[in-house]
Amino acid sequence: MLKFELRIISRASIFRNAKPGSWACGPCRRANPRPFLNRGYATEATPGAKPKPYYVTTPIFYVNAAPHIGHLYTILIADILKRWQVLLGNGDAKLLTGTDEHGMKIQQAALQNGLEPQALCDRNCETFKVLAKEANISNDHFIRTTDSAHKQAVQFFWENLNHRGYIYEGKHEGWYSVSDETFYPSSAVQPTLDPATGRKMMASIETGKEVELSQETNYHFKLSAFQDRLLKHYKENPNFIRPQVYMDSIVQNVSSGLQDLSISRPVDRLSWGIPVPGDSTQTIYVWLDALVNYITYAGYPFTPGHEDKSIWPADVHVVGKDITRFHCIYWPAFLMALDLPLPRTILTHAHWTMNHSKMSKSTGNVVNPMFAMARYGVDPMRFYLAMNGGLASDTNYDNSFIVRDYKHSLQFGLGNLCSRMMRGKGWNIRECVIAVTGSNDKLRVEGTEELDHRAFLEEAPVLVSKQMDELNPRRALEEIMRIIEQTNKYVQDAAPWRLAKMTDDPKSSERLTGVVYNTAESLRIAGILLQPFMPGKAKELLDKLGVEQDIKKRSFTAATYGFDLDYGTPSEPLGEGKKGTLFPPLLTED
Ligand code: ME8
Ligand code: MG
Repeated sequence: MLKFELRIISRASIFRNAKPGSWACGPCRRANPRPFLNRGYATEATPGAKPKPYYVTTPIFYVNAAPHIGHLYTILIADILKRWQVLLGNGDAKLLTGTDEHGMKIQQAALQNGLEPQALCDRNCETFKVLAKEANISNDHFIRTTDSAHKQAVQFFWENLNHRGYIYEGKHEGWYSVSDETFYPSSAVQPTLDPATGRKMMASIETGKEVELSQETNYHFKLSAFQDRLLKHYKENPNFIRPQVYMDSIVQNVSSGLQDLSISRPVDRLSWGIPVPGDSTQTIYVWLDALVNYITYAGYPFTPGHEDKSIWPADVHVVGKDITRFHCIYWPAFLMALDLPLPRTILTHAHWTMNHSKMSKSTGNVVNPMFAMARYGVDPMRFYLAMNGGLASDTNYDNSFIVRDYKHSLQFGLGNLCSRMMRGKGWNIRECVIAVTGSNDKLRVEGTEELDHRAFLEEAPVLVSKQMDELNPRRALEEIMRIIEQTNKYVQDAAPWRLAKMTDDPKSSERLTGVVYNTAESLRIAGILLQPFMPGKAKELLDKLGVEQDIKKRSFTAATYGFDLDYGTPSEPLGEGKKGTLFPPLLTED
């Protein structure tokens, strides 16, 4: 943990740099002081009230360089969680992503690129916007910390922390890593050699990033005052940090003691940022600035009396394991200081690595997600990442595994099952649907194999939804792919192409109807459940199957065996040859 030398100078000197009479903190300035503090939230279950919209966020990414596969992975997980909510019928669910544009890291990147910081941000934030668009991410907004609404929110947040006595001025000595935008105590740094140049340098033990000694006067947040409240919160909310491994390490971390946190830098070192209200000699620390983005979008400063209109608190902050300390310790402490509700869950995932070292913008060992999507397709990449990325353990990125998964699960798995069913010569899906569902309220499914498969299909969506409730998209996707695998086996055993030839045997043609119906149901149910993961391909599949576009026919409720009586006639021609297959062979293989 942070254990740096800290000498408190004087609380009164906090106003030293303010021009006399020119500045008063926000809450004091207002006729009705602290308008939103200490208010109960309708979001905390007002009886009979409509629940607030589900709210998912991604971290906001630094614009020092272009995004890589790791960023795509985080946005994808958040997108799947949001789309899952929409599937459940929560159409007003919200997803926020964006860019983190202030701080030393950006200031230095701008200098290196010979650009003004704002110009660098304007240019590079586009690459993140384009990524979200190309990857078919359903974000409702894209926030930038240089937006004026955000700057105002951060200053208001600061003023309130100050007003409540949580900010003081102090001398600070410590090791600062620009790359990690954080101070480290001397126990957390060591001498090392720069892997690129062999130069001797001091670096963080945890991240290997260079640190420099800094001695300066800046403002501090009384983080140490929150140790007990944080520990109590973790204990009372066991799902606050997921998966459990990260909770355990944060609890251990906080239990070992919290030092106060430096939350500003002198303007002569850091000028690219939001000025400290009332003190033009200091710039607000980039992490305080960045974390506030989650409430800026939710309408902070909240309008008194209208807190219940806000989507805050977030249901899930999706973050990488590199930034748990900021999200699980600093952020809740800041919110506690202002009596604001805390996010419900911080869902943490592990890293994508290249040759087993973390893929990182500043290291440069990255894969460009735009190239990968151009090469393999958007949905196959979404599939590969969702299927292989880990919450608790790292995954090594490997092109050969993308090809392996594509062939095994998509081309020969789902794609093949579709082709077998939809292009089969001896049957008509629509007729089988009518034959099975047409007789009043009872489905006409008979025979042990058919009934077994039906039971399997009735259970499958429940298992998928259980995994999504656990915020584990990877396990959920595995359950969906089990439907495909199991159904391919079922079709192989039942051999409908053989049954179709036995035209003069009524038993065979009856069985054929049941097999075709069950297989079509497998595809329909899997197609509905796949929408959050592969929105494009799932739509194509459901269209080919003739499932109406009506949301009711494509919702989670519709993913119930026997639910849809009307499908089976393709809404678009199936197409010939490669055009007609959901997953054509890849052009490149390596
Ligand atoms: O930390 N594997 O921004 P950042 C998986 N601006 N995910 C990865 C990854 C990898 N190799 N590399 C990055 C910041 N990520 C701050 C956040 S939030 C208020 C401020 C993902 O550009 C992962 O989500 O360094 C990680 O936490 C995030 O990108 C860090 O992005
Ligand atoms: Mg980073």
